[in-house]
Amino acid sequence: METNRDFSGIPVETLVKQSGLRHIAFIMDGNGRWAKKRMLPREAGHKAGADNFKTIVRYCKKIGMECCTVYAFSTENIKRPRREVEALFRLLISFIEEAAEEDDIEFRFIGEPGELGETIGQRTKQLEDSTRGRPYRLNIAFNYGGRAEIVHAVNRLMAEGKTSVTEDDISANLYTAGRPEPDLIVRTGAEMRISNFLLWQAAYAELIFSDILWPDYSTSDVDAAVREFASRSRRFGGLDKADQTGGT
Ligand code: FPP
Repeated sequence: METNRDFSGIPVETLVKQSGLRHIAFIMDGNGRWAKKRMLPREAGHKAGADNFKTIVRYCKKIGMECCTVYAFSTENIKRPRREVEALFRLLISFIEEAAEEDDIEFRFIGEPGELGETIGQRTKQLEDSTRGRPYRLNIAFNYGGRAEIVHAVNRLMAEGKTSVTEDDISANLYTAGRPEPDLIVRTGAEMRISNFLLWQAAYAELIFSDILWPDYSTSDVDAAVREFASRSRRFGGLDKADQTGGT
């Protein structure tokens, strides 16, 4: 496997383009530990995480990516203490209020945010409707579970009367339908698992696990991730060109 090629002299925008990095996804883990280290409540970690999320999403757009997905609230996160859950809901609502300032992002909420209450359901839908057709795509996973997403797709197909389905049928009925699959998934916070995130779409994604806690994850860490991605050889189950032709 070709790894660790040195791309240090090449601008990151060029690497994004040349490597075909269209879609980056983040599992934003480590907010709680970030807060604990500072003797702050967990909610302060989520606030810092939400601020950082805006910075990182804008930066990914600036360096030429087409799509970004963030895991903001899983279907399991509802089990957290009420105070923490409510703080995350408030952050979502204030994020939506500020999102009007972004003029080129098409927002999509993946998951079932509407199940979390009428206000969240209405606000998320309004933002999706008012930003449709914009060039940079942002998926915010909120009340999202990867298995539930696949079940949702299959149920939609069954409701259409299908008795057998193809991979394309499933892809076309996921919450992410019509958007590219992630090329790269970055998980911060030193855990090495996928946690029910984009299970179907991640089939050929490159994975990067970082020890950095999400609120500390910076634009230069994005640059490093892009360089790492560009150094990898993606074969999608096939062979490198040189190996196919017998060349070097
Ligand atoms: C995991 O860290 C993070 C979450 C459960 C929430 C992620 C949410 C944000 C970054 C902000 C959300 C943005 C919007 C728009 C609402 P953790 O709490 O599990 O951290 P820990 O593992 O250190 O405890």
